[in-house]
Amino acid sequence: MNEVINSILTRRSIRKYKETQVSDEELNNILECAQYAPSGMNNQGWHFTVVQNKDMLKKIKTVVSEALTKPADFDPFYNSPTIIIVSNSSNITPEADSALAIENIFLSAHSLGLGSCWINILNGLRDNPKVQELFKELQIPENSTVYGSVSLGYNAGEEPSAPPRKTGTVTILK
Ligand SMILES: Cc1cc2nc3c(=O)[nH]c(=O)nc-3n(C[C@H](O)[C@H](O)[C@H](O)COP(=O)(O)O)c2cc1C
Repeated sequence: MNEVINSILTRRSIRKYKETQVSDEELNNILECAQYAPSGMNNQGWHFTVVQNKDMLKKIKTVVSEALTKPADFDPFYNSPTIIIVSNSSNITPEADSALAIENIFLSAHSLGLGSCWINILNGLRDNPKVQELFKELQIPENSTVYGSVSLGYNAGEEPSAPPRKTGTVTILK
């Protein structure tokens, strides 16, 4: 099967990660693919904040757990060794552009043998003052809004099978 189609059909959200870190080469490949996503009026307003520092990963987990009053071991990022936070300063189509960049991250990661998952928690908490402080510490540009984040790493679990797809979602008029 065509490699791109195969990658699209076999990518799954991964929720268990090995400790092994993503290499710089893999990361750079993935970030380049992210930046080649289309964007409304070619705005390219995205910013990718990559966190691999263990103390900072722990801090993100702690701030989120406290904001949600969850137990300290709560980790919405599934202990992935890398987190990519996607923010965007476009005043045209920031959410759509961010989602397209994130899908490029997912597909390129999968084609390199890496697992990934969209993690929505940070955009849900982006107005929380403690989370805003965290964003400052992470050097997320002040003029950009967080639209999503990605857990990234090697899959430590089974290869999930695709959830059944809904039918009746296509109309073709010929
Ligand atoms: C906008 C968006 C937000 C999501 N947020 C989360 C999330 O916070 N945590 C999570 O585990 N999965 C999240 N997911 C992953 C979905 O649950 C997953 O894509 C869906 O169940 C289909 O599975 P698949 O990705 O393996 O095809 C999100 C997906 C999208 C598109």
